[in-house]
Amino acid sequence: MIVFHDMYHNEVNLSFTPDPFSTHPKHVWVICRYDGHWLLTDHSERGLEFPGGKVEEGETADAAALREVMEETGAEVSELAYIGQYKVIGKGKTIIKNIYFAEIERLLEKQDYFETKGPVLLKEIPLDTVKFDRRYSFIMKDDVLPHSLDYVENYIKTKKAL
Ligand code: GTP
Repeated sequence: MIVFHDMYHNEVNLSFTPDPFSTHPKHVWVICRYDGHWLLTDHSERGLEFPGGKVEEGETADAAALREVMEETGAEVSELAYIGQYKVIGKGKTIIKNIYFAEIERLLEKQDYFETKGPVLLKEIPLDTVKFDRRYSFIMKDDVLPHSLDYVENYIKTKKAL
C-alpha cells in the first residue's frame, strides 16, 4: 500500500490490488485514453481532471464509471479495466474511490456535459507542473495521478505485447 498526503493534508492510502478498502466504494475515477491522447473533462469549478464522481444508489461502481465518462465527456468506452482503489481520510469524512482505465471507442457531441465544460484531449499530462497549474483540478494534484499513470502505461505495454 502507498501512503501520502494530498494538498489538503488529508492522508491518502492507495493500492493497485482488488478492492483493498471496500467492495462497494462510493466514488469512481476513470483514466481515459482516446486515439493516442488522454481524455479529460473540464469541471466547471475544479478544472481539468479525468472524469469520475459518485456511485448512485443501486448502481455498481463499474456502471458509475461508464455513466460518468459519458456524462462528462460524451465518450463511449470499449474496454473498462479496474486498476486500483484509494482512500482519502478527511477531517469530516473518509471517501473510497475505484480507479479505472478506459479505452474510448468514440466521442459523441452532446448539448450538456453536466457540471463540466466537456471533453479535453491532451497528448501528454505535464506531471512536473500539474501540481502548480491552476487549470488542473485538486483531484490531479496528489500522488494518485503519477502512480496511476505508471500503472496504466505498463498495462497498455503489456497488452500490446500479447
Ligand atoms: P457532498 O457534499 O456529499 O456532495 O460531498 P463533497 O462535495 O464534500 O465531496 P466528496 O464527498 O466528493 O468528497 C469529500 C472530500 O473528500 C473532498 O472535500 C475532498 O477533500 C476529498 N476528496 C474527494 N475526492 C478526492 C480525490 O479524488 N482526491 C483527494 N485527494 N481527495 C478527494
